[in-house]
Amino acid sequence: MAQVREQWATRAGFVLAAAGSAVGLGNIWRYPYVAYENGGGAFLIPYFFALLTAGVPILLLEYSMGHRYRGSGPLSYRRMSQKWEWLGWWQAMLAFLISTYYIVILAWAFSYTYFSIGTQWGENTEGFFNHQYLGVTDTFWNFGGLQWKVVLPLAILWGFIYLVMRRGAHGGIERLNRILIPVLIVMIILITIRGLTLEGAVDGLNVLLTPDFSALADYQVWIAAYGQVFFSLSIGFATMMTYASYLPKNSDLSNSGLIAALGNSGFEFMVALGIFGALGYLAAQSGTGVNEVVAGGIGLAFVVFPEIINQFPGLNSLFGFLFFGSLVFSGLTSIVSLLEPGIAAIRDKFDISRKFAVNAVIGGSALVSLLYATKGGINYLDLIDHFVNTYGLLIGAVAMTLFVGWFANRLNTLQNHINQVSDVRIGGWWVASLKVITPVALAAMLAANIITDYQVPYGGFPYSGLILMGWCVLLALLIFAIILQNKRWKANEELVDPHKEGA
Ligand code: PFF
Repeated sequence: MAQVREQWATRAGFVLAAAGSAVGLGNIWRYPYVAYENGGGAFLIPYFFALLTAGVPILLLEYSMGHRYRGSGPLSYRRMSQKWEWLGWWQAMLAFLISTYYIVILAWAFSYTYFSIGTQWGENTEGFFNHQYLGVTDTFWNFGGLQWKVVLPLAILWGFIYLVMRRGAHGGIERLNRILIPVLIVMIILITIRGLTLEGAVDGLNVLLTPDFSALADYQVWIAAYGQVFFSLSIGFATMMTYASYLPKNSDLSNSGLIAALGNSGFEFMVALGIFGALGYLAAQSGTGVNEVVAGGIGLAFVVFPEIINQFPGLNSLFGFLFFGSLVFSGLTSIVSLLEPGIAAIRDKFDISRKFAVNAVIGGSALVSLLYATKGGINYLDLIDHFVNTYGLLIGAVAMTLFVGWFANRLNTLQNHINQVSDVRIGGWWVASLKVITPVALAAMLAANIITDYQVPYGGFPYSGLILMGWCVLLALLIFAIILQNKRWKANEELVDPHKEGA
């Protein structure tokens, strides 16, 4: 018989967990360079557009689905329609896939927190990151064996996360967030203030804030904005659905959603100010323009930041420690939310104990994570990230909005549900947006992505890699999702809307 569903202890516990999931590497490491690469100040326009037309509506959709149907991804979809359970598995498996590489970036940050003590990365920070630390191989298919400097922090982090996850939503995840988030906020405020008060900070801010309006005509910028909003808000991966399913029956949804969304974007923007202030400082020190010191992608955090720390006027080790430590803390509260959708999904379906589910999901993710801890790992990480966060995510999100808005036609039911339990009422704009604007915008993004990748292979990777590690992996997930849909439910046999039945 089905076990009792886990529950958050308080509403604040849920909001903290949702915010903890949202605030992560995406805010500290990803947003600054994505904003910079996509028109600086002008990026705010597509960013807010994406936030309003997809981010907030889908966030509330996930909250309302998880809460109303009281289930992880597969169970929530199944309770709306038997035929759509696969979509819940698809989204939960994408979250699982992200967890396999997200943890590796956390492991790098963990190592760098340690390297901060006495700035052990030395003068040549790029050489240190690529050669000494990662030992990157020269060709894509050259795995180069395990890189022990990465495996070690990875193992420590997995051990810690395992202990947290075993304790459940309330005892583990909620407690972790309660402890780490306040500490994280203090760390980030310190870093931002320091970044903004460095000499030359204004030049950095100018680069971040000066709009390049011509960028708005470039559809790639819009793709980047939508991608950033989804990743940063943790939506499209059944994460928020799962978290909302742990809320007691009469819990506010819309207010909590707005707090999480505003908190996340505010945090994101604040961090970007601090980081660009620091970049301005680096440029002033090295007598170059800010444009020359900004490296894209992964490099910003692991190459440019150590360089900035080297140049700091004082307390170098401390600020390095704070920066990389904040990456680790923010990432820990997010990785638990990437693991929970899979854990909850198999528990809902197969009626297994939490212990068993945690062993299976963490065991599986830990095993796959070793792939990115090889010397060629950074390439595989980059490739999988691209496929999950563009194709995987967009296919899932388009299917989700079409299903709920058109096939199952449940948006009005969900709107009423939100309004019944929440302080802030949501209007018809929510339904209209999810029914029309969101799916159209997302389908356009998907098409644009296909065209771009067709013209130039992503990241300059070989076709064999893109097909095997990208398309084949996604296809395998889809097949797996369909197989799971056809397996018999061992728990939650009453596959009905729990609210309707007065259950
Ligand atoms: N939102 C997290 C970040 O910004 O780092 C990453 C993330 C967590 C993405 C959970 C997706 C997710 F389901």
